[in-house]
Amino acid sequence: MKKPIINIYKSTEELAGSFAELLCDKVNEVPNESFLTIALSGGSTPKAIFKFLAENYADKINWSKVKVFWGDERCVAPDDSESNYKMTTDCLLSKISIPAENVFRIYGEAKPAEEVIRYADVLRNNVVSIIGAPSFDIVLLGLGEDGHTASIFPNQIELFGSENLCEIAVHPQTAQRRITITGKVINNAKNIIFLATGKSKAEKVSEIIEHKTGEELFPASLVEAGVDALMWLIDADAAALLKEKQEDQLISDKLNGAAGNGLN
Ligand code: 6PG
Repeated sequence: MKKPIINIYKSTEELAGSFAELLCDKVNEVPNESFLTIALSGGSTPKAIFKFLAENYADKINWSKVKVFWGDERCVAPDDSESNYKMTTDCLLSKISIPAENVFRIYGEAKPAEEVIRYADVLRNNVVSIIGAPSFDIVLLGLGEDGHTASIFPNQIELFGSENLCEIAVHPQTAQRRITITGKVINNAKNIIFLATGKSKAEKVSEIIEHKTGEELFPASLVEAGVDALMWLIDADAAALLKEKQEDQLISDKLNGAAGNGLN
């Protein structure tokens, strides 16, 4: 299995700049009449990245060639402060020219049992399939302090291996229901990118990146290299407990170009 690419940034701003450059490169590679499909993560980590894209790449990326999906969504209305769609719209989508038909939100307001079926059909009908499952060009993943990713929590780790493309998850503390893609979709992506920043993620980043000894401890441990690449874009705080930091993992401004982000 391919080794993950670990990029460690001095700041969230540098991480956001590197991701923006990477996304721009990938969109520019998309053939005419085709699209780049990306499943976004929710939570707070991506906010800085989405804001950076809105401020600096609104005109640099041809957003009409990007189809936006979500890896998970809280079962709330789209205007609810908990909604990942609302967060993404506030930070990015409302500030770029992306056609409405290119945005495939999960209907958090719908009955979860119905939405989990509808959204799976949306994925089948709008994302190119490889070996019988949708294969996103990019899946963005966050990392919870408990090692969850998307909305697959440690106490429901079996959802990762579901035969379904999507499942209903329940937040272990709040009992909030979520719609989440499963490992069938995550591990079928061409490029999987974990985003993790801040000291609170350092322990799990280290445990998952360095202690991966075949024990599948956390849902995030089950994420394997996509068809092309598995990347970790992390800041220095989140990388603090990594034992071996290779020189080439410490991405500084001078490296922060195509050669610097390592995506295939
Ligand atoms: C969500 C996310 C979830 C998130 C992690 C990290 O809907 O909350 O998809 O998986 O990425 O919980 O959240 P933070 O970025 O807020 O730390």
